[in-house]
Amino acid sequence: MLLFTFLVLTLSACGDPRLSALTPNGTNAEESLYLIKLSAYIMFAIMAVVLLLLFYVIFRFRAKPGDASIPKQVEGSALLEFIWTAIPVVIITFLAVITINMTFSMAQDHSNDPNAVKLEVIAHQYWWEFRYPELGIVTAQDLYIPKGKKIAATLRGDDVIHSFWVPNLTGKMDTNPGYNRDGSLQNVNHFTFDSKSTGIFLGKCAELCGPSHPLMEFKVIALEPEDFDAWVAKMKEPVQVKGSTAVEGEKIFQQNCAACHAVDATDPAKRPGPNLANIGNRLTIAGYLPAETEKEMRESLAKWIAEPNRYKPQNEQATVKTVVMPPFKDKLNQEAMDQLIDFLLEQKQYDPARLHVGTK
Ligand code: CUA
Repeated sequence: MLLFTFLVLTLSACGDPRLSALTPNGTNAEESLYLIKLSAYIMFAIMAVVLLLLFYVIFRFRAKPGDASIPKQVEGSALLEFIWTAIPVVIITFLAVITINMTFSMAQDHSNDPNAVKLEVIAHQYWWEFRYPELGIVTAQDLYIPKGKKIAATLRGDDVIHSFWVPNLTGKMDTNPGYNRDGSLQNVNHFTFDSKSTGIFLGKCAELCGPSHPLMEFKVIALEPEDFDAWVAKMKEPVQVKGSTAVEGEKIFQQNCAACHAVDATDPAKRPGPNLANIGNRLTIAGYLPAETEKEMRESLAKWIAEPNRYKPQNEQATVKTVVMPPFKDKLNQEAMDQLIDFLLEQKQYDPARLHVGTK
């Protein structure tokens, strides 16, 4: 009781509503919550019956003063043993049928459904790559989807095992690395999810993948279908940088960053770093550094570019990959850093805030 009270008092207000399986917003998440509630209600009902019986027995059959007789012994009663075996079997069978049913419904493969949006999720230490093979777009960290449509995802890892998890929309799915001998991908997972309304939802890596695992966050931005189409069109338009410092910044970007990063979402080269298209509208920098105001975004970009390893530990000694984000604090002076950030801030194709996307 003491432990329970302590947990209620300390944990009941925990959590970010954008990262909660208790406020589902997609079909998979609704089914998961249904299973959670169903199992919990059955458990509470069993607890209530057991406790009532226990208290009834304690009071009804307690030893009366002066009564030293031995109560009737029921050891080896076939009827009792049948009852306490049969009831759990019925309950577990019931739960198993419903759980298996819903597990298969969540695992439906819509990769051949012409109405589904095809998505490739590639997890890296410690960031997320999202490719839309039918739309010809690559993004990182911010995953845009149209509300109400099935998102048919294939998932894999680039280095170690990660796990894609958006609690408000869907349960976890592992992203496995590895190739077959013929060079084809091994253990690619498929699943389908959706969002029932517009909004911004938080995603997490749900598989311990290294020291920066807790920082491996991403966002899902669910838009009205017509807004999603507008996003696709905007992402395909190259950005023309205007400011004179940004033009200088572009040169710095070409010299220092372009081997690993593209700022064009349609870039065909499979560069090792995150695609930086629309980075001027990112909701966070490096997945978690604040970027709500321009000031915050400048500070976060400067910190990240100067010392990425400080903000994502072990970023510099990735286990499998050979190319990593180096620190630029000794390579770029303050002026060059400011110019580079001016260039990055002009990479604005599409602003989700403009479209009255409520933060759910
Ligand atoms: Cu990636 Cu944990």
